Amino acid sequence: MRGIILSGGSGTRLAPLTTITSKQLLPVYNRPMIYYPLNTLIAAGIKEILIIVAPERAGDYLNLLGSGKKFGCKFTYEIQDKPAGLSEAFIIGENFIDEEDVIMILGDNIFEDDLSAEIKNFKSGGKIFAKQVPDPERFGVVEFDANKKAISIEEKPAKPKSNYCVTGLYIYDNRIVEVAKSLKPSRRGEIEITDANNWYLQKGELQVAMVNGEWIDAGTFDSLLKAQNLAKEKLADKLII
Ligand code: DAU
Repeated sequence: MRGIILSGGSGTRLAPLTTITSKQLLPVYNRPMIYYPLNTLIAAGIKEILIIVAPERAGDYLNLLGSGKKFGCKFTYEIQDKPAGLSEAFIIGENFIDEEDVIMILGDNIFEDDLSAEIKNFKSGGKIFAKQVPDPERFGVVEFDANKKAISIEEKPAKPKSNYCVTGLYIYDNRIVEVAKSLKPSRRGEIEITDANNWYLQKGELQVAMVNGEWIDAGTFDSLLKAQNLAKEKLADKLII
């Protein structure tokens, strides 16, 4: 399985912290933010990792992470010219993904859990990771039927059908490349990961795993502060990188 860390975007919500560097390189306690999602992949045995970055920040990533050798990995870099949507990662990454399955994690997502077992037991289709949150309207939202089977996923719904949000960790079989190419931009002009997830859901091939420990999308001042505390109290000693 190949890995992708999507680490582009403009990070405007965190200005002026992000005026001279990328959001995903900001400190989270004693490591740069991207170390946390990188750790999630490496702990699961993923060694070939594509890091997708914004053009003006590419040099910073190369300086920090290099070839990947010091992590026992091989890193490849691609530029995303504009933040055109999460699903674009699979188009940018087509050659890198080749014939393999692929796992993508967002560069600002921090998971407390070791998700290695859930990652390693992926077989085919799609697999996403859900977490109960107090503010589901900010995220992709999964609706379940009485048997806990996922029946719909909506992107940032005004009236969420549940409080289970889709976290920024996604696993797909190789069909994702063609699925991503077939998607039309949404009203906000992005090719949405939620549309890719719905493609697998409609075929009955989307699995939804639960995240039990803490999960933080560290993209706001408050969530960044929460991430710092989580890192200090629970993650600093557990990370393998
Ligand atoms: O965090 C989980 C959520 O991520 C999911 O629940 C949503 O379904 C999904 O759409 C996404 O929502 P966000 O509103 O958080 O997406 P955002 O535009 O903030 O992008 C997430 C990260 O990915 C952010 O760190 C920037 C990066 N990014 C984003 C886009 C759209 C890119 O590198 N390239 C892009 O084209």
